[in-house]
Amino acid sequence: MKSKYYMLTALVPLLVLGCSEEPKNTQTAANHQTLPSEPTEPKQEQPDPTQEPTDPKQEQPDPTQEPSEPTQPISDSNAQNEAMLSAKIDETPVNIQWEDNESVRALKAMAQKSPISISMSQYGGFEQVGALGTTLPRNDAQTTTAPGDIVLYSGNQIVVFYGSNSWAYTRLGKITDKSEDDLKALLAKDHVTLSLSESDAQAQDTQPAQDKKQLVAYFSVTGHTKPIAEYISEHTGATLYEIVPETPYTDADINYGDNSSRTSIEQNDDHARPGIASTIDHIEQYDIIYLGYPIWWGQAPKIMYTFLESASLKTTSKIVPFCTSASSPLGTSATNLKASAPAATWLEGHRFAIGTDRATVTSWVDSLPLK
Ligand SMILES: Cc1cc2nc3c(=O)[nH]c(=O)nc-3n(C[C@H](O)[C@H](O)[C@H](O)COP(=O)(O)O)c2cc1C
Repeated sequence: MKSKYYMLTALVPLLVLGCSEEPKNTQTAANHQTLPSEPTEPKQEQPDPTQEPTDPKQEQPDPTQEPSEPTQPISDSNAQNEAMLSAKIDETPVNIQWEDNESVRALKAMAQKSPISISMSQYGGFEQVGALGTTLPRNDAQTTTAPGDIVLYSGNQIVVFYGSNSWAYTRLGKITDKSEDDLKALLAKDHVTLSLSESDAQAQDTQPAQDKKQLVAYFSVTGHTKPIAEYISEHTGATLYEIVPETPYTDADINYGDNSSRTSIEQNDDHARPGIASTIDHIEQYDIIYLGYPIWWGQAPKIMYTFLESASLKTTSKIVPFCTSASSPLGTSATNLKASAPAATWLEGHRFAIGTDRATVTSWVDSLPLK
């Protein structure tokens, strides 16, 4: 059990820094120089331990109190929005993180009825644009787009960006699995076709969730993720499996204020794969895997990658990620994990605040598109 003092100390900067919608790079060169490598993701969200809270009340937060809710990330969408869509640009599959809005719901409803194919033409050296053939609900706002953004223009045209533009658009989503160079290679040509359809796994899957083999696999060091995992397991009848590290994490190991602590080093090392002591038989037998973890510097702990990479999952296995954090959203933690189990079908995940009650967790489970 971790000391209360540690948790109080640890949570303060996280509460102060973790609430911004866009993670800021708060790490200074000085406080990071001892780390062996500097991958972008953890570094961007690593809290700056040198930053002092200005509100004295915040100096002693009660860790049992729920921190203020951050802006809901687009991945924390509601059940209706969790219908999966497969997307392709020409023949290349692309992963899209959809917004939670009326326009996207209407688009998904359309694609569920029949696949959508949009012929697009290059415009302005920064986008592909094509007519949808129908008008969607719109809520245009002045927007500066970035490569990968997908927007609705004029209510009836879909635009996919490989550069940037500023205009009044309704945001639809963002391509999450392509670099800027990949996007240019895909989109910087005269014409492309964007195809959207209900995902194959979802379309073919009609077996009710309760008839499926279900697993809750979770990792929890300070005990916040564990009860969420237990609520899910008790509610669904899923087997509960704790990912136990070969070498347990000590208080010193999880001290994020120390750049040379074990977690600081692991999370900054793309190749770190901490060993797992626990074993699980025939993970491939599970149809649904709820995957729980704490957020560490905006990402999943590296042991989650160890777990996924050692598991041979079926393409029909559905993974439902969930996490707990002081305030950060699920963010890119789940999409980054997906690369370690690309064969499985990943559902949109959910972030729970520390101390989330059983009813909130079970109603989330019931809202999942698991049939
Ligand atoms: C090393 C470390 C890094 C953390 N990074 C973040 C963070 O980036 N954002 C955040 O909101 N919380 C962060 N936290 C807080 C944890 O996400 C939170 O306490 C979580 O509920 C812990 O789960 P567990 O008790 O199941 O281990 C961090 C905690 C530790 C120990």
